[in-house]
Amino acid sequence: MKTVTRNILLNPGPATTTDTVKNAMVVPDICPRELEFGELTLSVRDDLIKIAHGEKNHTCVLLTSSGTGGVEACLTSVIPMDKKVFIINNGAYGERMQAICDAYGIGHIDYNIPAGQPVDMIELESLIKTHQTQVSHVAFIHHETTVGILNPLKEICELSHNYKLENIVDAMSSFAGMDIDVERDQVDYLVSSSNKCIQGMAGISFVIARLKNLQGTNRIKRNFYFNLLTNYEYLNKNKQFLFTPPVQTLYALRQAINEYFAEGGANRVTRYASMYEIMKKRVKELGFKFLVEERHHAKLLTAILDPISSNYSFNEMHDYLFERGFTIYPGKVGSINTFRLSNIGEIYPADIENFLKVFEEYLRVKKIID
Ligand SMILES: Cc1ncc(COP(=O)(O)O)c(C=O)c1O
Repeated sequence: MKTVTRNILLNPGPATTTDTVKNAMVVPDICPRELEFGELTLSVRDDLIKIAHGEKNHTCVLLTSSGTGGVEACLTSVIPMDKKVFIINNGAYGERMQAICDAYGIGHIDYNIPAGQPVDMIELESLIKTHQTQVSHVAFIHHETTVGILNPLKEICELSHNYKLENIVDAMSSFAGMDIDVERDQVDYLVSSSNKCIQGMAGISFVIARLKNLQGTNRIKRNFYFNLLTNYEYLNKNKQFLFTPPVQTLYALRQAINEYFAEGGANRVTRYASMYEIMKKRVKELGFKFLVEERHHAKLLTAILDPISSNYSFNEMHDYLFERGFTIYPGKVGSINTFRLSNIGEIYPADIENFLKVFEEYLRVKKIID
């Protein structure tokens, strides 16, 4: 078996994976229309529902795409032709929802908040109240990965129901990394992908949908490949993806889900959060400031303001760290420059400690800190 260098990815996904997940993709060639593959597909679907605690009222539609495809599928499949969607936007992924709607001519009412700022629930309620009759859904990002802010899942979903609206939650970078229970949290549609906190490979997005709501979308006709109901019905009836699936990626996702259950959902949340705590403490000691107030951190990714030093260059810092096995990510929010450190994937506190040593070494070598 080929040995693979272990890179520590501190970018917000695709995340570091185990060797067993990587190796799970090396399988005999198989036609995805074979029953064996169909059973694998249904097992993945059912376990994703289980991870979201949606066994009672939800199903899961698997799609071949990156995460954006899942969001696009959801927005274009469920908003009635004569209704608009209310979009909460406090970062690039909220903005992306608006761009998707623009591309399809779906009307949207926007609650735009400066990136990194929390949702004001009173203001949100008053806006929803004003626009209630025009809109059918409230859409938002759970963990806005651009800045690392956590939007209040249950509160927003509950509010949408109070006004008889459905909700769409982009939980791309929080699903399997935070405690999400679609039943308890009143989520109607949750979108995520295979390559973030579930720790699989890129190439599959999925929508965990309240079945009753999904079944009510049969008269909405504005997409084809990405139609959620058509994909759901085909898989249910035929035990097959509607279109060619990413075969090997599905084997990897199966293995990643096995590893998720072996670790335990609560343990994964604790592991991720413990790495965040280590990282947060040290970067603060080194004099850095955060873009988002600490009480709103999702504990999955932290946006750190660039140091004020003429010796600092993100690209140079990136390259120094990359050569030593650590990948970090830039982040520009309006005119504010940040860099982002994520703590998801198959990484451990010792990896964060090692990263912090190299990070500090770079800062001292370059005289960015004394
Ligand atoms: C919250 C959120 N939504 C959507 C996306 C887009 O996913 P993808 O790049 O897989 O299309 C990301 C990617 O990081 C994300 O973090």
